[in-house]
Amino acid sequence: MPDRAPPRRIARAVLASRVAVERLGDRIIPADLAALQRSIGFAPAFAMRALAQHEIPEALARGARTAAELAREKDLDADALHRVLRFAALHGLVRLDRRGRFRLTRTGHVLRGDHPASVRPWVLYATSPAVQQAWAGVSDTIRTGEPSFPAVHGESVWSYFEKHPEEERQFAASMRRITELDAPAIVAGYDWPEQGTVCDVAGGVGTLLAAVLNARPRLRGVLVDARGVLAEAEDHLAKAGVRDRVELSEGDFFEHVAAKADVYVMKDVLHDWDDERCRAILATVREAMPPGARLVLVETLQERDEVEPIASFVDVLMLTQTDGGRQRSVAELHALLRGAGLTPGEVRRTAGPGLVEGIAPR
Ligand SMILES: C[S@@+](CC[C@H](N)C(=O)[O-])C[C@H]1O[C@@H](n2cnc3c(N)ncnc32)[C@H](O)[C@@H]1O
Repeated sequence: MPDRAPPRRIARAVLASRVAVERLGDRIIPADLAALQRSIGFAPAFAMRALAQHEIPEALARGARTAAELAREKDLDADALHRVLRFAALHGLVRLDRRGRFRLTRTGHVLRGDHPASVRPWVLYATSPAVQQAWAGVSDTIRTGEPSFPAVHGESVWSYFEKHPEEERQFAASMRRITELDAPAIVAGYDWPEQGTVCDVAGGVGTLLAAVLNARPRLRGVLVDARGVLAEAEDHLAKAGVRDRVELSEGDFFEHVAAKADVYVMKDVLHDWDDERCRAILATVREAMPPGARLVLVETLQERDEVEPIASFVDVLMLTQTDGGRQRSVAELHALLRGAGLTPGEVRRTAGPGLVEGIAPR
């Protein structure tokens, strides 16, 4: 069982080949069966949620067990648990032997909270009632064009998170995991300077910044985010061995960013916002940038008429879960950069997200 994430290139290839195999299957099986199968996509996700919530993967990691044994240990209903685990076996999360014992598969192991590549926070976030209700609102969204989360919940996801810290923690942990997966491609995909300063605007706990600094031992960093996030970043940066090279700078990208740097980076920030708020964010960052400084937008690129295995999903995730966010094309990002007075520079397409550069005039 590998502890480290596979290279993003392999992950993308696997996703693309899964789609190709599914398309091939569609040509062989009756069309109604193919469509019916798509319509029950929610079912394995909720089975995963139930198993994760009751920490069944953690229990199974201690050895194969029957549902009755697990149920006794965790005070659950043995028959219902057996049926859900048997269904999870259909989806390759566990295996069921002839003696009625379940054991984790390789895929099932990453549902454990203590696994280094754990997807538990993502499963709990993605299947949470608030997120699912917003997905269910997509039908209204394609009529009105209004994003579903605020329409369904009466507030943006950001104010919802303020009132639901546990869900916010699950979302932040999921985001960290995604950035860990993306970081090698981002580090390799851009000519990060050998020295000087890189500023990660809304960089979370500094996952990407730490990866860049670890690849450039003479480079310094500034991490901009909200105060609470920066408090968490202390520990994260220390563990990554770069705390002594990072300045923490509290900032609000709608108000003021104080950091001076040679390169600014913003990963998966613009995709959370509509064009108007992207313009406001970029204006704030532009104000901080010295002449000649570069801004690197790290975004999963979505060209209008291309179907992308990751971007086309994330784009609808943004449509349903944010307040006007979307995945954008290179041309759309360039228009936003130009609007902020930045000159579009290099565009790098990595095995993960795209890197779209804007340069402040000298
Ligand atoms: C989707 S996460 C991206 C985090 C990080 N860039 C990454 O990719 O791992 C969005 C980040 O924006 C930060 N954020 C939200 N509103 C902000 C604001 N007004 N000013 C600064 N940061 C903000 C959040 O705290 C969070 O860390």
